[in-house]
Amino acid sequence: CGIVGYIGDQEASPILIESLRKLEYRGYDSAGIAVYNGSSINIVKTKGRLKDLEEKLEGRTVKGTVGIGHTRWATHGAPSDENSHPHTNGDESITVVHNGIIENYMELKDELISHGYVFVSETDTEVAVHLIDYYYKHKEDPVDAVVKAMNKIEGSYALGVLFKDHPDLLIAVRKDSPLIVGLGKGENYIASDIPAVLQYTRDVYLLEDEEIAILTKEDVKIINKNKEQVNREVFKVTWDVAAAEKGGYDHFMLKEIFEQAKVVKDTLMPRLPENQNRVVLDEIKLSKDELDNINKIYIVACGTAYYAGLVGKYLIERITRVPVVAEVASEFRYRDPVIDENTLMIVISQSGETADTLAALRLAKQRGARVLGVVNVVGSSIAREADDILYTWAGPEIAVASTKAYSAQLAAMYLLTCHIALELGKMTEDEFVSLRDELYQLPRKVNRVLSKAEKIKRLADKYVHSKNVFYVGRGLDYMVSMEGSLKLKEIAYVHSEPYAAGELKHGPIALIEDATLVIGIVTQEDLYEKTVSNLKEIKARDGKVLAIAVKGNTEIEKVVDDVIYIPQTHWMFTSLLANIPQQLFAYYVSTALGHDVDKPRNLAKSVTVE
Ligand code: G6P
Repeated sequence: CGIVGYIGDQEASPILIESLRKLEYRGYDSAGIAVYNGSSINIVKTKGRLKDLEEKLEGRTVKGTVGIGHTRWATHGAPSDENSHPHTNGDESITVVHNGIIENYMELKDELISHGYVFVSETDTEVAVHLIDYYYKHKEDPVDAVVKAMNKIEGSYALGVLFKDHPDLLIAVRKDSPLIVGLGKGENYIASDIPAVLQYTRDVYLLEDEEIAILTKEDVKIINKNKEQVNREVFKVTWDVAAAEKGGYDHFMLKEIFEQAKVVKDTLMPRLPENQNRVVLDEIKLSKDELDNINKIYIVACGTAYYAGLVGKYLIERITRVPVVAEVASEFRYRDPVIDENTLMIVISQSGETADTLAALRLAKQRGARVLGVVNVVGSSIAREADDILYTWAGPEIAVASTKAYSAQLAAMYLLTCHIALELGKMTEDEFVSLRDELYQLPRKVNRVLSKAEKIKRLADKYVHSKNVFYVGRGLDYMVSMEGSLKLKEIAYVHSEPYAAGELKHGPIALIEDATLVIGIVTQEDLYEKTVSNLKEIKARDGKVLAIAVKGNTEIEKVVDDVIYIPQTHWMFTSLLANIPQQLFAYYVSTALGHDVDKPRNLAKSVTVE
């Protein structure tokens, strides 16, 4: 999941490999390089790790002083040699590495096939290389061709491009995928991330969206998509490598929290094209007739993925009227659940490797259920074994505590709810279009919540010494409170419990005493008054209440101690926004207590044992 490039007088291949090594932390499943020796561009690539690439390189002369390299985290197409980058066009005159997701690749692919282009991989990247080729063959100006292609491509990308006709040229472009240019003496670099070039230079240009960098060994020029020159100041990197890997953030968790607008956008947008009034889930083969026959849905997962499943259960059942049971995989698999051919089983997993979730999937399949996987890691066991697969495009998640994967899973639940409801006639096209308009706004609203990080840090400092914390809410707010409570336990080691707000009076209220902290999630308009009454009961017993509420509901300030507001949105989608303050709160409590946020004690990122 990273690109690198070099142009200069040294042998490119060891520099490319070393640079890629510095991007390994980002996660990847295949790797490759392309090196230009002045007469041909040689590509060596493989599924697997960098050491597999090095083995493949041994004994081969991949000489040349210009090159590009790539580590791939599979998106379109499973990890394989063919799907690995770099990709080249038919006559091997243009070679490309790409990071990101091309949203309109199906459309572009059809167009290119009609122009006679032949595709050899399943990747969206191949579209980029052929498209550049198409424009290049018409005008023979490499920069022009890249700009034209860029104007056609929708989605996120960072590209590195080599042209056989231009041995002293490396072109790089970015939109919504990170890309930097490293500045050397008589040599220059490109990379997805600063750590890749730090061993060679501390002078970089940080490219902005829709900018093109034109590199020769002596010079770097930056232009925008209108081909106007951009003057960029040189950024001097003062961080060490460890800080650079985190993109300047203190921890991976924080970095991943701040990636959520992009993740939500990447997961939603390719499936919600404006010109079609449906959810485009062509990756799912489940037909309308098959859906008609489904009379029960299970959602099965572990940990954070299970909590995303609870939101899914609530929405799918409420909107489509198909009964949905959500359950943790370790229970589901041992209790002889009622499953038959009319059961749809949705399994959710970031890693796609969780042992209990995989076992639950196998059990359901054995008993005839149709299994739909919602998975982040392409080509993982669950992705391979599920009948249908809906990928979340969260990218690699490195911090043990899951943050951006949860947001992507919620986005997937929103898509599935709308898709199933439309197919079953439980949602009109008009209703869908207005929900879709709301979904288009979500990434921007995510950023608005993230802009409150400083305030949330102050609240975390204020409540850092709480020994017991309750997270309460009703309906969807209760579902999301479970994820909030889990985050605090996981990384801050503070005992906390989620509770249905209406159930407090049946027990836990006995534990409320002076300064017990209760986090109240109050985003559901129809349940607002009810939850607020519960919060008053807590205040009456001297508890402290921190509320997460929707902007505009200011009267809550009279009831509670502190409020964090989220922007207004449709009631179905508040969980995604309300969870972000919970993530930040747990993060800041954990750092204030001095814990290892990214690697909390006793926990593993992926639990492949029962
Ligand atoms: C572990 C991780 C959690 C994750 C859970 C399920 O417990 O620490 O963050 O939610 O596994 O993992 P999965 O990869 O299946 O989503």
